[in-house]
Amino acid sequence: MSHPPYEIDQMISAKSIAARIEVLAREIHDHFDGTDKLVIVGLLRGSFVFIADLVRELDLPVEVDFLEASSYGDSTESSREVRILKDLRGEIHGRDVLVVEDIVDTGFTLSHVVKLLQNREPARMETVALLDKPSRREVDIKATWTGFEIPDEFVVGYGIDYAQRNRNLPFIGKVRFT
Ligand code: IMP
Ligand code: MG
Repeated sequence: MSHPPYEIDQMISAKSIAARIEVLAREIHDHFDGTDKLVIVGLLRGSFVFIADLVRELDLPVEVDFLEASSYGDSTESSREVRILKDLRGEIHGRDVLVVEDIVDTGFTLSHVVKLLQNREPARMETVALLDKPSRREVDIKATWTGFEIPDEFVVGYGIDYAQRNRNLPFIGKVRFT
């Protein structure tokens, strides 16, 4: 699939992301302090860089597992129907769970995943999203912790893609079609 030409303008620097993650990790640590059974559930693929940095700031015993839900395909429009493409490898029944998402946009993905995982009866479940676009919300959900609230812009970098590209940028940038 081809795309109109675009450029990327930096929105959040690598340094700001790192500083924010230190604070988030401290808050998450304080919340789950004393746990011996925290499972980090990363939503593929956009959260992989965030998780890598977050777990290295988190001084708790953790396991890391991944779940893949379908989202945009190759467009910039969200689909309301959320499908599970890859489920967790491990059980979360009775465990403490932290769901890690890259962006909460309409909210369909996170609310679907939270409902699905709640059915498995974890002991506790919280959510953290690196980015939140509150103006786009269609489902009433908010992550327990949010890195940054951003305006309604299509963003890439730090794990987040546009049609599978730009995940390797060290910062968050917005896509500007030229
Ligand atoms: P939601 O279900 O509408 O909340 O969409 C959440 C998912 O859509 C996120 O996990 C991202 O994968 C994707 N998404 C939302 N906004 C953007 C964006 O600006 N750039 C890239 N992907 C996005
Ligand atoms: Mg996603």
